[in-house]
Amino acid sequence: MCGIVGYIGTKKASPILIDGLLKLEYRGYDSAGISTMEHGYLSNMKDKGRVKNLYNLEGIDSLEGTIGIAHTRWATHGKPAKENSHPHMDNSNSFSVVHNGIIENYQELREFLTNNGYHFLSQTDTEIIPNLIHYYYTKLEGSNDKFLQAVHQACGDLKGSYAIEVLCKDEPETMIVARKDSPLVIGVGKEENYVSSDIPAILSYTKDFYLLNDGDLAKLSNTDISFYDSSLTPITKELKNIDWDVSACEKDGYEDFMLKEIYEQPKSIRETIGSRLKKNEKVNFEDIGFTKETLSKFNKIYLVACGTAMHAGLAVKPLLERLCHIPVIVDIASEFRYREPLIDANTLCIYISQSGETADTIAALKLSKKQGATTIAISNVIGSSITREADFTIYTHAGPEIAVASTKAYTSQITLLTLLTLYFAEVSESAPTDVISDIKDELLLLPEKITEVLKDDSKIKEFAHKVYEEKDIFFLGRGTDYTVSMEASLKLKEISYIHSEAYAAGELKHGPIALIENGITVIGILTDPTLVEKSVSNLQEVITRGAKTLIVTNQEINQTNYDEVITIPNTNPFISPILSIIPLQLFSYYISKEKGLDVDKPRNLAKSVTVE
Ligand code: AGP
Repeated sequence: MCGIVGYIGTKKASPILIDGLLKLEYRGYDSAGISTMEHGYLSNMKDKGRVKNLYNLEGIDSLEGTIGIAHTRWATHGKPAKENSHPHMDNSNSFSVVHNGIIENYQELREFLTNNGYHFLSQTDTEIIPNLIHYYYTKLEGSNDKFLQAVHQACGDLKGSYAIEVLCKDEPETMIVARKDSPLVIGVGKEENYVSSDIPAILSYTKDFYLLNDGDLAKLSNTDISFYDSSLTPITKELKNIDWDVSACEKDGYEDFMLKEIYEQPKSIRETIGSRLKKNEKVNFEDIGFTKETLSKFNKIYLVACGTAMHAGLAVKPLLERLCHIPVIVDIASEFRYREPLIDANTLCIYISQSGETADTIAALKLSKKQGATTIAISNVIGSSITREADFTIYTHAGPEIAVASTKAYTSQITLLTLLTLYFAEVSESAPTDVISDIKDELLLLPEKITEVLKDDSKIKEFAHKVYEEKDIFFLGRGTDYTVSMEASLKLKEISYIHSEAYAAGELKHGPIALIENGITVIGILTDPTLVEKSVSNLQEVITRGAKTLIVTNQEINQTNYDEVITIPNTNPFISPILSIIPLQLFSYYISKEKGLDVDKPRNLAKSVTVE
């Protein structure tokens, strides 16, 4: 979704801003723009289309300003068009604003401003912000710190979510930023400061960051940053060192980020396991520190998330129920938040989000906290919004995930949730130790086994070549294999635009089998020894009706029945999704490549969905 970059310092701002926007391209966007301070006036250059189009805009090379703001827009209010792109300015061209989020009461504020003589050039909700700031600024004549106060008053009128950067023509050495329910970080340099919605955009300039909380404002100059809370009381913030490797945000010789991230999985899983699990030791979640008494208080567990993160929850539900004997409900955050879920002080709610900025997941978390639940956030992004709301946070440590289609974050989420399950089971002594030990041993072997899966992708590539022109592809599985089917199907839809469905194999005869016709592609996942025979029978039913089949398995099956079989290493069935998804991530990737599509930035999608 929309991305923000800002710079204030001694260097020419525009190349830094454009460089930052290029690094934010992965978020998904349809237009881009920058605004810089030029000898007493505010320049504003923007257009729909790609960030690189900014290089062609007349006058962009002559921008000399050392303070500027920049934006990539993902249209919500008003179609992708130059006039709807950010930055937006007020009617007197005194204020320039970029904004991420949605202003829910913008119609009302637009009417108010129109009644006060303002007019609008765009269909956006954002354009009210610079005008509202101007409105308050003119009323503050003679007061101290007019710019900061005007931004603060304008923010007070906004309902919804925002992360904003504001420049003021009359205060050319200051930038004001503010956030509510939309991410914003400030990177600190020497005689220069950076702002961004995402750490990777400015990671090559600094590793020292301040993270803004909801309602916070900050006033920046080259050398100073002052922070304020929502009542404009000065506050102090802790500087955080983010030790992500810059190269982790680069393609490192891979053609696409997605491919790189698929191949990074041995490493990311190792990092996720980290010091939480060592051979012959108990699983370590000192940072959570639950006792047997705490755990015994929970009578149900919710795993709440969206998309792939929700699929990670589905993959771990069977293990959590089996080892902890507590009912587990996996829910889609956007459904959960509006369903008046039955939560109270005896409920444990676990929120899973790679970005930690997914609007629905954050709202669901806030709701459950209000109803007294204990909350745990699982995120990949240090300091992300979800981590600041939850009672406890655990990080996946998968490293930055740039491709829109999530791959390594999914396998890390399953790994971390599995570790957490084992920890609960050990603390509450709710499962036999040999069952726990087997899963622990298998978890430690995962990096090696993933490396084995990744050794040869030629069969997958060939099968992708055979079927890339298909209109529909189906995935079948039972148990955890069904949860992997759902994730594999989502991956395929996202980046290949092929219609795809995942079905629990046993459900086939209850309807979906009507869709099976001669030549259709069906992918079966068979890793659970207790269910393999049943799934084989279901696959036989589709083969009889003319389906082409690709099987991902670690079981001994009669391979001659199928068009292609990908054999993966054996492991404990509860964690097999971490291995079985990998060939299917590659399958989607190669189909997308065959079709000549933009793998990392699929149409209509955004990396973090910061609006409802
Ligand atoms: C994954 O490939 C998707 N792009 C999407 O489903 C994603 O998992 C979902 O939007 C949740 O994102 P989050 O993990 O950042 O909350």
